[in-house]
Amino acid sequence: MAVMGLDYGDEGKGKFVSYLAPYFDYVVRGTGGDNAAHTSEIGTEVYKLSLIPSGVLYPHAIPVLGDMMVINPEVLLEEMGGLEKRGVSTKNVIISAYAHVIMPWHLSEDEARESSKGEKKIGTTKRGIGPAYKDMAGRYDAIRMEDLVDEERLRGRIETVFPSKTMMLELFGAKMESSKEELIQRYTEFGRRLKPFVRKNVPYILNHALDLERKTILAEGAQGALLSVVRGSYPNVTSSITTINGLCEGIGISGDRFTVLGVTKAYPTRVGGGPFPTQLGTDEQIRQEERMRREGKRIQLTDEDFERANAGDEYSIGKVLRVQGNEYGTRTGRPRRTGWFDAPSVNYSIMITGAKRLKLAVAKIDVLSGLDEIKICVAHDINGEVTTEYRPGHDLEIAKPVYETLDGWERMSKEEWMTIARGESKMPRNAQKFVNRVEELTQHPVVLLSVGPERDATIQLKDNIF
Ligand code: IMP
Repeated sequence: MAVMGLDYGDEGKGKFVSYLAPYFDYVVRGTGGDNAAHTSEIGTEVYKLSLIPSGVLYPHAIPVLGDMMVINPEVLLEEMGGLEKRGVSTKNVIISAYAHVIMPWHLSEDEARESSKGEKKIGTTKRGIGPAYKDMAGRYDAIRMEDLVDEERLRGRIETVFPSKTMMLELFGAKMESSKEELIQRYTEFGRRLKPFVRKNVPYILNHALDLERKTILAEGAQGALLSVVRGSYPNVTSSITTINGLCEGIGISGDRFTVLGVTKAYPTRVGGGPFPTQLGTDEQIRQEERMRREGKRIQLTDEDFERANAGDEYSIGKVLRVQGNEYGTRTGRPRRTGWFDAPSVNYSIMITGAKRLKLAVAKIDVLSGLDEIKICVAHDINGEVTTEYRPGHDLEIAKPVYETLDGWERMSKEEWMTIARGESKMPRNAQKFVNRVEELTQHPVVLLSVGPERDATIQLKDNIF
């Protein structure tokens, strides 16, 4: 099974991965790097992982970092060290020899480009993702894991690439952070430490596991379909193919072998730049919140926020969703923009995923509690043309949402949701109506709902989720 995001990332995939991981032998990632972040809660423990698949938390599962990932070795070693310190073994981790290495010049370029772009910046996570994928596609300057773990090769690659990267950084007004020799020393050491985990045959390992050993594989998508470099809302996308097709390319398994659990949040969110038709509140209002957080102020919800939200104030609705849903970047702390469920965008993601083999999971439905009315966007109005298509280019910048309105339900305590998850009571009628409407609009079954970050804060709506 593959768990894929259908929105702009941060759909809460990690939570469903935790729910499913105990049933799988391998837990793998194919694309992206430490721009992603999964939060997994097991018992009272909270784990924030950005590179290692969350399956590492289950001792029986073998975690695999696939061929099309871009890996910052320093971050990976830190993550592995952090897990070991907490008693989670990383001895079974497999890293593809063909994954690409994020080097310091990638981080410097990302930082310099974003700083020089002013208002036009993409709003990247500044983890060097775009520059590393650019080198992968460009071929001349790339360094792969198999180079990193071979001292002689690594020296050769850094000797070759260092001069042109230094010149390129100077053009952007940035500097190489260390000398060539220092870099060679540091990265040779990273390679030495990672070598025991690197394998040259990830697709063979995984296909043999399926075909010869009758093992099962859970593939974890990173980001969401609408951030895909080809299909997403370009240029405000990440640099990898975030759909099931990219994931399969990244691990070397044919897509037709997967059932896809498509995860969409009951209200989508977006971080960084880019159009977002159902956004609640203006960019400036959200930037103001970001400034307050940077000054160390806690953003809290008051009864007045709910009153304003229920009187129709969009920023207050967005704030209720943001604070109740803790919609702040796991790694960057940035407030996420929140919006109403957008059927055209979800249907587009379902279409490009391959509709036949997809089941839906709706995350964080509990966060909608306490709103008198809930809107669902059923179409986009593009300059007077009303369409159910999601058009990820310039049309999206002017797309206005066409809404229908459903009745909301009361504020509910965590315990009330947990009794529903345990099957001891029923969902509020209007929450069930929301789910039914999502199924009608998408023509797909919703098999799982999440009502909290913990593994058991999950409502299983259908018997067969696989
Ligand atoms: P990059 O992947 O760091 O180059 O960032 C490109 C765009 O993708 C920015 O708008 C980021 O905020 C967004 N992005 C990248 N990774 C994630 C993620 O895991 N969740 C949500 N947004 C992401």
